Amino acid sequence: PSLPPSLLLYLSHLSPSIQLFLDCGGCGACTVMLSKYQPHLSKVLHHSVNGCLAPLCSLHHCAVTTVEGIGSVAGKLHPVQERIAKSHGSQCGFCTPGIVMSLYALLRNNPTPRMADIEEAFQGNLCRCTGYRPILEGYKTFTKVRPHNHTLSILRMSKDHRLPLSSSTSVLPAPLYNPADFLPLDPTQEIIFPPELMVDTLTHQHTRGFRGERVLWLQPASLDQLLELKTQYPNAKMVVGNTEVGIEMKFKNLLYPVILAPGYIPELNTIQHTDEGIVFGASCSLTLLGDVLKAAVGKLPLYQTEVFNAVLEQLRWFAGLQIRNVAAIGGNIMTASPISDLNPVFMAAGCKLTLMSKGKSLLLSLQPGLSYRKTILTPEEVLLCVLIPYTKKHFAAYKQSPRREDDISIVTSGMSVTFAEGSTVVKHLALSYGGMAATTVMAKNTASRLLGKQWGEELLQDACSSLAEEMTLHPSAPGGMVTYRRTLTLSLFYKFYLTVQQKLASCNVTTACGKRRGLNIFQMHSVCVCVCVCVCVCVSSGTFQAVPDGQKEEDVVGRPMMHLSALKQATGEAVYCDDIPLYENELYLCLITSTKAHATIQSIDTAEAESMPGVVTCVFAKDIPGSNMTGPIVYDETVLADDTVTCVGHIIGAVVADTQAHAQRAAKAVRITYQELQPVIITIQDAITHQSFFQPVRTIQRGDLDQGFTQADHILEGEMHMGGQEHFYLETNVTVAVPKGEDGEMELFVSTQSATKTQSLVAKALGVPASRVVIRVKRMGGGFGGKESRSTTLSTVVAVAAQKLKRPVRCMLDRDEDMLVTGGRHPFYGRYKVGFMKSGKVVALEVTYYSNAGNSMDLSLSIMERALFHMENSYSIANIRGRGYVCKTHLPSNTAFRGFGGPQGMLIAESWMSDVALSLGLPAEQVRRLNMYIQGERTPYSQILDHITLDRCWDQCLEISSFTQRRAGIETYNRDHRWTKRGLSVVPTKFGISFTAAGALAHIYTDGSVLLTHGGTEMGQGLNTKMVQVASRTLGIPSSKIHITETSTNTVPNTSPTAASASSDLNGAAVHNACEILLHRLEPYKTKNPKGCWEDWVSTCQSYTVLFLIGWYHYLGYDFETNTGRPFNYFSYGVACSEVEIDCLTGSHKNIHTSIVIDVGNSLNPALDIGQVEGGFMQGVGLYTLEELKYSPEGYLFTRGPGMYKIPAFGDIPTDLTVSLLRDAPNDKAIFSSKAIGEPPLFLAASVFFAIKDAIIAARKESGLSGPFRLDSPATPERIRNACEDRFTKLCPPAEPGTFTPWAVVV
Ligand SMILES: Cc1cc2nc3c(=O)[nH]c(=O)nc-3n(C[C@H](O)[C@H](O)[C@H](O)COP(=O)(O)OP(=O)(O)OC[C@H]3O[C@@H](n4cnc5c(N)ncnc54)[C@H](O)[C@@H]3O)c2cc1C
Ligand code: FES
Ligand code: FES
Repeated sequence: PSLPPSLLLYLSHLSPSIQLFLDCGGCGACTVMLSKYQPHLSKVLHHSVNGCLAPLCSLHHCAVTTVEGIGSVAGKLHPVQERIAKSHGSQCGFCTPGIVMSLYALLRNNPTPRMADIEEAFQGNLCRCTGYRPILEGYKTFTKVRPHNHTLSILRMSKDHRLPLSSSTSVLPAPLYNPADFLPLDPTQEIIFPPELMVDTLTHQHTRGFRGERVLWLQPASLDQLLELKTQYPNAKMVVGNTEVGIEMKFKNLLYPVILAPGYIPELNTIQHTDEGIVFGASCSLTLLGDVLKAAVGKLPLYQTEVFNAVLEQLRWFAGLQIRNVAAIGGNIMTASPISDLNPVFMAAGCKLTLMSKGKSLLLSLQPGLSYRKTILTPEEVLLCVLIPYTKKHFAAYKQSPRREDDISIVTSGMSVTFAEGSTVVKHLALSYGGMAATTVMAKNTASRLLGKQWGEELLQDACSSLAEEMTLHPSAPGGMVTYRRTLTLSLFYKFYLTVQQKLASCNVTTACGKRRGLNIFQMHSVCVCVCVCVCVCVSSGTFQAVPDGQKEEDVVGRPMMHLSALKQATGEAVYCDDIPLYENELYLCLITSTKAHATIQSIDTAEAESMPGVVTCVFAKDIPGSNMTGPIVYDETVLADDTVTCVGHIIGAVVADTQAHAQRAAKAVRITYQELQPVIITIQDAITHQSFFQPVRTIQRGDLDQGFTQADHILEGEMHMGGQEHFYLETNVTVAVPKGEDGEMELFVSTQSATKTQSLVAKALGVPASRVVIRVKRMGGGFGGKESRSTTLSTVVAVAAQKLKRPVRCMLDRDEDMLVTGGRHPFYGRYKVGFMKSGKVVALEVTYYSNAGNSMDLSLSIMERALFHMENSYSIANIRGRGYVCKTHLPSNTAFRGFGGPQGMLIAESWMSDVALSLGLPAEQVRRLNMYIQGERTPYSQILDHITLDRCWDQCLEISSFTQRRAGIETYNRDHRWTKRGLSVVPTKFGISFTAAGALAHIYTDGSVLLTHGGTEMGQGLNTKMVQVASRTLGIPSSKIHITETSTNTVPNTSPTAASASSDLNGAAVHNACEILLHRLEPYKTKNPKGCWEDWVSTCQSYTVLFLIGWYHYLGYDFETNTGRPFNYFSYGVACSEVEIDCLTGSHKNIHTSIVIDVGNSLNPALDIGQVEGGFMQGVGLYTLEELKYSPEGYLFTRGPGMYKIPAFGDIPTDLTVSLLRDAPNDKAIFSSKAIGEPPLFLAASVFFAIKDAIIAARKESGLSGPFRLDSPATPERIRNACEDRFTKLCPPAEPGTFTPWAVVV
């Protein structure tokens, strides 16, 4: 192939259950274990690695173990597989094999790990569904010392049916799963390393070569061979871990025709301890570097190891373990990245490099690169080794990144100071910074200015003003965050200053949580300078109502039944769309997309692409036999652009070829010329300027607004922007289209939440009746709303190509393609005017929402409507008006995302609520409680609230979180700490549930087994599990007799998308009804044979099948004009309380505690429901604090993968998380008194956002600032730091807006 194939690509051809073509480098879903014999250590090492980055050629002599290799459902499960499944740690399951293999690799090296080892093992794995807690909970059972032994437990009801809250009340815990049932881990039973590979490694003496279509891979066995080859091929690319080169080739489209892989050369892998320090061969992995330095730190005196400690601190936050296991020290230095984490440390420490070429060797100090990613090496030279010196001075390193774990730096730094003998007069100072220029830079002017000065306040002042002058950035600098980056250079120096002061004063060192942990984590009483980042084990607990005494054992409703596919997901046996084996004559499709936001297409030249190997055809609008117009509600977009493009990423056409690599390469060779058009509308502000709105503009109003404002004691106005969100389902969009060859029939295997919509839009484009198109959905690797409507375009393009060629066609988008074309959650901007009394009671509210819809309507109007329906969140406001403008912009169309506008509408509500409290100087919780709805009140859309449980959720949440004591503790903490602050917030939610249509089909076979089908799709939420529970109770048979294979349009037709949280309600009712009809039909057979059993009755019954359709419809007749009707069937309620700690100098924050109390009615399955609460909550944490999509002013999306777009990782979960399902709250409007659960918990993460705001308020107080201030969402480190105004921020004022073009714009 054109690029060295990755291990992942190879494995996916070998095994249908290797599901991953994502090729992203940062999600860990492709983790496998690599075992290698190390001759110099005489042992086999096992490491987790990312299959998508491991070049196949580099695996000579290695053994690769995949998840299928360690156990299976039918054979024997491995304990690692069993425990994640049984502890409910697998929802959609797409991340599960990677997580299993990360832990498996750890256990192969260390069968009795500590919790910290487990957390480290997962630094490179992401999960979008579970919220991580159950995974850690299940795997905690492998540790010997378990700091906390919490498992989710059932609280049995006390006799008076009240929640036993206080510790004095007797509680009978019943574990959600029983760890005693788990298979024991027996390390002696693991597969052994093949001895022949060991022999092969020992006898490897010659250069090995592998030749591909365009690449020659050479693996020399000795240094001489390497230097000889480097002379022969001076432009050959060296590759060790491939974590940099692999990403370059994939995303920058670079090609290296000759690759030299020096991974096995002894001199590049040796470690020598010398008088000056430790010398590491350039190919030593970062994991090995860390191990050796840790050992040295354990043995050597502290004064010698400050540099080692600093390197270790950087390594702790450097990528994930999978990357560190393969990435080499030399690879990091030689990449010369301006945001390398090691180069600033190595430069400040005076590390020495040895360079070699044939016959020559050179020793020199590491210096900043020549220019962006350019080193001083000549083409013939290689880096042989690196000397890391012992220290005789004060040394520290800092890294600030958007996410603490596995993230690249915003600013990184190494700092060292030496004092004149017996004094604190500066003799030598080195300050190096990454992230401030195209190369790592040394603050030379500042360093020389401070020479000879006393280490004290005056020096600090000088240093800061000098750094502010020296570390400048142009306001348009790539990477953006200019003010923040400049401030960081000062803040980090201040940390260093305090650290040295501290050491000079020889104070006792403790971290913010009171433990002596970490190496540069440093705190003095009242001068804590770092947020507590010690690795803390997550303590979690959850409570829910046990099934009533006397419920039959086989009745599984209300019990924490495991997700039915969990075991298969943990063993890699679960089949996703792309696991469908290749059809014999199948082709692969790659999209051709626009590079302009608004333009007409002048010409398309496919000549070069079509001449490339493997290319079969290109597909454009003219190839669509039916209609090119598409869209889920209105047909206002094209399947393939005709003459105009309206966003970067607009799909123009596709290339179809024999393989994915060929299709992708050819798609890049298609030349398109454009005539750019004006205006280019990217942001909401642009849309307001150009009055670019979709119609209609929606309004909801009640009461008399003028009178309300007249009555109010105070009126305040404010505004807020809330960013969008990428779905980041682990399984990207995928479709396999198979033409049947008769009557225009086509079968499509799709990862979609919306089988019916896909069917109708594909049929429309193909120009055939819907009856000729069958859509089949087995399961999705996550959906979250992103596969409700946007998935249909890809399916249609693939179907068009398949019909044109009369051959099966497949496409699974790579992560970057998916992020580019599919859109996400709508960014919102809200302006509000709020009238309130002295008490805090809000009497009037006028709010205007603007959403950024992108280039087509999609579901944007309904999303805006839901935002308006949630504009008052949980508060009763007599006079209110909300208006919603849906902005039409030149971005990819934004779409549904868990919460569907609710999280945007409610966040802006909480913003004005917080402003009201701040302006009155009242506690926010007091103002919130005062305004909260009570039973019987009306919403702005005139719906009367009955069965309201908000007050119960609120009171229980305050009690569970020990709110009063917590608040008191925070006040004490904040008094004692200047540079870290804690914040607390409690936030309620009321989420409306409305119904759409669903259906179910049940077959009973004569052997008594039941095949169930329903209209919903399984995307990890456990819908199929719940449906089996419902059918099992209704039919009165064990759940093991009931099976669900898939969702398909030829079994249950005309269904609505699986969305809006209501799928269990709807499909559950349909399943229940279908089963009841069947039972009714069985009645005569039961009467005839009363002593018989299920099998007896069904084997004699003549009528085995029933189709039952049930239909409820959207909004139940709400009319916006007259404000009459009932938009929602019922409401879900919940309350969350969160505590955070912020680092005022860097803007980092740590989630310390969250308590959630949520009303789910009578839970159908508490394990699945708690999983939804935790998963939804963590997605909300991402939305409100972490995830930031960055667009250029021209509408180009920068954040197109896990490298730049950060979803929450394992380390982001609150250290202490409690989820309680409200007891005794049956819901008479849904199946078996349950309630919807998918979306409502997401908004509860707003408690984290407002806890951060609370902490910022405390920080601002220190600078004499009070009253309302604007904090936009997400509350990123940049926003937090900028809001904590102080003397450092004053030295780095932002450039005047309008005087420059920013690198990225807020859309
Ligand atoms: C998901 C992910 C996360 C990451 N996180 C971080 C992070 O947190 N911090 C950070 O700093 N970096 C990070 N990186 C970047 C990368 O992992 C590191 O730079 C790594 O150290 C590169 O090592 P490698 O062996 O994989 O390099 P390769 O990709 O194999 O090579 C990198 C460069 O070094 C050259 N090279 C390698 N060895 C030699 C030699 N002996 N002589 C001359 N040239 C040589 C190669 O020719 C190439 O130009 C991340 C990368 C990924 C994919
Ligand atoms: S890290 Fe390999 S697919 Fe994401
Ligand atoms: S279960 Fe982890 S991504 Fe879905």
